[in-house]
Amino acid sequence: MSTPCCGPSVSVGSLLTESIATLNAADISAADFEAQCIIAHVLDTRPGRLRDSMVVAAVQRRLIGHLLALRCRRMPLNYVLGNAEFMGLEFRCDSRALSPRPETELLAELLIERIGLSATGLLLDIGCGSGVLGLSVAHHVPGITVVGSDVSLAALQLFIENSRRLGLTDRAFAVSGSYLDWLSSGAASMVRFLVSNPPYVRPDDYLELQPEIVRYEPREALVSPSADGLGAYHQIATRLDEMTGLQLVGLEIGYDQSEVAQIMKQARPDMRWSVEKDYSGNPRIVLGECGG
Ligand SMILES: C[S@@+](CC[C@H](N)C(=O)[O-])C[C@H]1O[C@@H](n2cnc3c(N)ncnc32)[C@H](O)[C@@H]1O
Repeated sequence: MSTPCCGPSVSVGSLLTESIATLNAADISAADFEAQCIIAHVLDTRPGRLRDSMVVAAVQRRLIGHLLALRCRRMPLNYVLGNAEFMGLEFRCDSRALSPRPETELLAELLIERIGLSATGLLLDIGCGSGVLGLSVAHHVPGITVVGSDVSLAALQLFIENSRRLGLTDRAFAVSGSYLDWLSSGAASMVRFLVSNPPYVRPDDYLELQPEIVRYEPREALVSPSADGLGAYHQIATRLDEMTGLQLVGLEIGYDQSEVAQIMKQARPDMRWSVEKDYSGNPRIVLGECGG
């Protein structure tokens, strides 16, 4: 593999050609887009603002070469860049937590729409990871206080860093613990909105995932605690009846896990449960709503 890494300054145009070839040789499918992202990141601009005639200094070229080499080793692009855009916000992103997915953005959009911009109350984000779900809802809905919980202390640290980055430290709190084990009955009754994108990959399916995922993302963020992939949802369902003030639940699911809606319905038959599809038409989200 040849990586454009040393030598004198060059133009963006020629470096782009060279970088795309490097990524193509490593079988990176969106080589054009990713080369632009990496070069723009190092030049501290946006991909759409790159111009062929711009000059890249030798030191910048060396850093670009280093980042391309990481990507060629299949490190996810967001980890290479150290950040991820989600709901128009920039989150710090690294191997302490899952790199956010487009389907999760769809869940955040639906939540904001159903919650309403003027709502107030406590939102619980179970398995918060970097905080993309809970923190983006809190950013868009100023009356929301978010509690992000996770079993991974490294992920919680990232959640805290992102809450600082977004100026949300007075409305965002991190709690360490497994699912809802840490939640007292008194606190459960205060939860108004509950959101989770829990680990739902079946253990048997894990090794079939892309190298980006298996080599770099935390296994515990992906793999379900049960063979059928539904263990996390059962854990969450066991405490739903204590959440007497609950108005909305939003859960990300695997494309073949629509039965999560039934699991939730058994726990809270008083709520309306629906399965929402992603842009490819696959079931991806379970929503539970109270009232109306
Ligand atoms: C699929 S990731 C989702 C991260 C983030 N919410 C997102 O959507 O990008 C699942 C998260 O659940 C966390 N997790 C795994 N097991 C858990 C458990 N027993 N209790 C709480 N969180 C857990 C992982 O550490 C990880 O951050």
